[in-house]
Amino acid sequence: MFTLPGTDIANVVYIAMVILFIVALQRLSDPKGARTGILWAGTGMLLAVLVTFLLPGMGNFGLIALGIVIGGLIGYAAAIRVKMTAMPQMVAAYNGMGGGAAAGIAAVVLVPGGLAAGIASLSIAGGLIGAVSFAGSIIAFLKLQGWMRQRPIVFPLQQPFNLVVIGAAVVAGALTIIWGGPAWLLPLFFVLALGFGFLMTLPIGGADMPVVISMFNALTGVAVAMDGFALTNYAMVIAGTLVGAAGSLLTLLMARAMNRSIGNVVFGAFGATEEEGTAIQGALKPIEASDAAVLLSYASKVIIAPGYGLAVAQAQGKVRELADLLEKKGVSVKFAIHPVAGRMPGHMNVLLAEAGVSYDKLFDRDEINPEFASADVVLVIGANDVVNPAARRQGSPLYGMPILDVDAAKNVIVLKRGSGKGFAGIENDLFYRDNARMLYGDAQDSLAKLVQELKRL
Ligand code: TAP
Repeated sequence: MFTLPGTDIANVVYIAMVILFIVALQRLSDPKGARTGILWAGTGMLLAVLVTFLLPGMGNFGLIALGIVIGGLIGYAAAIRVKMTAMPQMVAAYNGMGGGAAAGIAAVVLVPGGLAAGIASLSIAGGLIGAVSFAGSIIAFLKLQGWMRQRPIVFPLQQPFNLVVIGAAVVAGALTIIWGGPAWLLPLFFVLALGFGFLMTLPIGGADMPVVISMFNALTGVAVAMDGFALTNYAMVIAGTLVGAAGSLLTLLMARAMNRSIGNVVFGAFGATEEEGTAIQGALKPIEASDAAVLLSYASKVIIAPGYGLAVAQAQGKVRELADLLEKKGVSVKFAIHPVAGRMPGHMNVLLAEAGVSYDKLFDRDEINPEFASADVVLVIGANDVVNPAARRQGSPLYGMPILDVDAAKNVIVLKRGSGKGFAGIENDLFYRDNARMLYGDAQDSLAKLVQELKRL
């Protein structure tokens, strides 16, 4: 009877996995298909893991199963419990684990020694990139979780020092390939690589962390692909390359959204400088929900600019209720989505989709910016940095970040709890402008009041 060897079966299933991943990526590029995209990708990954057990030389099944069960349970519990606002640090933690796993695999390949130069070089490259991504992601996690100072941590001659550390790691790696080296050389290589990952992430401020996490994600993909070449495992090569390519594109898109270069994000210590001499003119002018509701009901065009506070308040359902009510009254309602509003890429899209806001009401920054001047009312809901006109002023830590030009509207109503600053930690003079009014309170409560008042009108 004809039988297929395990490796051939595995390779056929790996091809199916690649197709599933590519379809998933295509679906993930649009909010409508994102949920099913995740399912396609998960199915591909599950198949790839299962079929790997057929490969020759596999053993220790009990231990592997134990690892999968423990890891799976921890992952499941964390994913069920995580709040939407804590998603970026969760992504950082998972990404770090991917980098750590890639470095671990490289170490397992390298430890016995006596490898051909090609395999040793690929493993050293995978180990270096994986270890940097692992250590950098840990710092990113600690900063985003608030367990470490969010602002850039800088010290004199930092960049030259970092250069020496990565240079030493590369030399240690090269000596391992050429020479095999004494027993301490490989551990030293990994310590230096991990050290560089920690050091390079310290001077990066919290506001740049999403870009950095995305960059580490791309690096983890590259590390996995290198390991895949070393082990001649096609699934690792292709999946790693896909992650590397998709992660690199996302990194570039996010950096572009903040009008920064990747070099500036990594070496710029963004947010390390305090702004000087920019005293704000004007006063904060509170408004009651009843008056705000009157303004809204007489408007013909309302634009809603949501931000991180909407996520904190979990006010997505209420904002939809408000938008529906206004539309019933004949008011045109649009949502202005800034690419870095909230705390993760697509944060606002995810929240609003959860509440069932139709996608054709969501407009990105370039589409909506020309429309603010003709809006009667802009409702800024828990957004701060992404609507801060300081971004147009040279010398401001936000300078250069493209913002939503909400200040051009006839009336701006800002829903926030008090005088809390945005993520970048700087004042917002929008709130002091003549056309701005502050509706204080938790966004969900304020929106509930607005809905109530509008129903009464
Ligand atoms: P932020 O600048 O963070 O401002 C959020 C505002 O929401 C705060 O001023 C806060 O003021 C208010 N707020 C908090 N809880 C609230 C609640 N329960 N009800 C009402 N208001 C509430 O938000 P943004 O404009 O969305 O900007 C995002 C910032 O995060 C950017 O600097 C961006 O670079 C950074 N970042 C983005 C990402 C991604 S990829 N999206 C990831 C990490 C960091 P009060 O305390 O006075 O209420």
